[in-house]
Amino acid sequence: MYKEQIDMARLPQHIAFIMDGNGRWAQARGQQRSYGHFAGADTLEATLRCATKLGIPYVTFYAFSTENWSRPQDEVNTLLDLMLKHLEEKIFMENDVKFLLVGDIENLPQNLRDASERLMEKTKNNKAITMGVAFNYSSRWELAHAAKIIAKEVKEGKMKLEDITAETIDRHLATGIMPNPDLLIRTGGEQRLSNFLMWQLAYAELYFTDTYWPDFNDECLYKAIVDYQSRQRRFGKTGEQVTENK
Ligand code: IPE
Ligand code: IPE
Ligand code: MG
Repeated sequence: MYKEQIDMARLPQHIAFIMDGNGRWAQARGQQRSYGHFAGADTLEATLRCATKLGIPYVTFYAFSTENWSRPQDEVNTLLDLMLKHLEEKIFMENDVKFLLVGDIENLPQNLRDASERLMEKTKNNKAITMGVAFNYSSRWELAHAAKIIAKEVKEGKMKLEDITAETIDRHLATGIMPNPDLLIRTGGEQRLSNFLMWQLAYAELYFTDTYWPDFNDECLYKAIVDYQSRQRRFGKTGEQVTENK
């Protein structure tokens, strides 16, 4: 019912997702938290398919933060195993999905790092959609990391100090090949960023829903897009300026 309300000419070009609520969803069913993560992985696949069909060119999913290492070891292991299991080449190739690991890839367990690098290389020419998965990711890590690379380039004479602009920083972030998100969707009821894409979300529209991630479906995505399209993005201008420019 929401799908018909979407203006296909004004789709968000990049949607970022904070997939939250897996644990509470499982606990509400008297199950272990890992049960929620398995269900959440199915939701991720379905959401990716829905976004691809709509024609959204970029999506990024927050799957594991650097802070999530402090969860109980068995839950961390479940999340690592689940990620490894989903880096299956076949599905990405069949659906023409370009995969990008967004995060501290150098400090991932070796098997995950190898699988991610292989998949990025294998899918680099895929065209239907680009999917970033933020894994071992945090914004503060990412910004500090970008600062280090830029400082090194200046030190080695590859770049001039005066030439550093916001665009330089954009390019050196883990999301470098993607435009900044137009829309952030966070499920699970919390209204915070949890160290996710803090730079990139500077002008994104934020959408929060109480729905737990495993219950998020196509209709929920359509609803979020319709809500996004009802907003006036002013980027610092007045409302009148924006309407005149239409
Ligand atoms: C999000 O669900 C998935 C990850 C953080 C990996 P949670 O596991 O945080 O679920 P809640 O917030 O405890 O319900
Ligand atoms: C954010 O969820 C991280 C991911 C979705 C991967 P959390 O559940 O870890 O966030 P906080 O700690 O409650 O803010
Ligand atoms: Mg959570």
